[in-house]
Amino acid sequence: MKISNLHELLIYELRDLYSAESQITKALPKLISKTSNEDLKTALQDHLEVTHNHLTRLDEIAEEIEFKSQLPVCVGIKGIITEGDKVVAEISDPATRDAAIISAAQRVEHYEIAGYGTAMSFANEMSHDYVADLLQQTLDEESDADKLLTSLAEGGLLSVGINSAAAKEETEEE
Ligand SMILES: [Fe+2]
Ligand SMILES: [Fe+2]
Repeated sequence: MKISNLHELLIYELRDLYSAESQITKALPKLISKTSNEDLKTALQDHLEVTHNHLTRLDEIAEEIEFKSQLPVCVGIKGIITEGDKVVAEISDPATRDAAIISAAQRVEHYEIAGYGTAMSFANEMSHDYVADLLQQTLDEESDADKLLTSLAEGGLLSVGINSAAAKEETEEE
């Protein structure tokens, strides 16, 4: 793909995001199935639904500024997902695995936040107001997901893991 101006770069960014979102819709169910904490499970399930809306929004954007949303594959998110799957598969303690799932999910959110933030400012710069507005809506939802994951981690999920590990150690010592 030849890119010679900001408009073409915006389209490149949007296609990258489209591929990222498609990959996320396939990766999230796997993470959900390995989650033990109910609040975390609900948060991920909700975000899976929201992710489908993100694809719909990108379809709307594709119609508005005319680009094809198929491929190329976003290798950035592919790497993040592969890495997350790998570490999650290596952990047998449920609470520790939940912490790894949060870490993997937040890496995904941060990738999306960077992508949407960039695409949104390009769209704004070129006065594609409608497109910028749609991108902002998704960006807000990605940020909300990221904040929710942080609050779950800090709101007790990590300490549950530490306490359960400590309890296990104590039983083993007895
Ligand atoms: Fe998304
Ligand atoms: Fe997301």
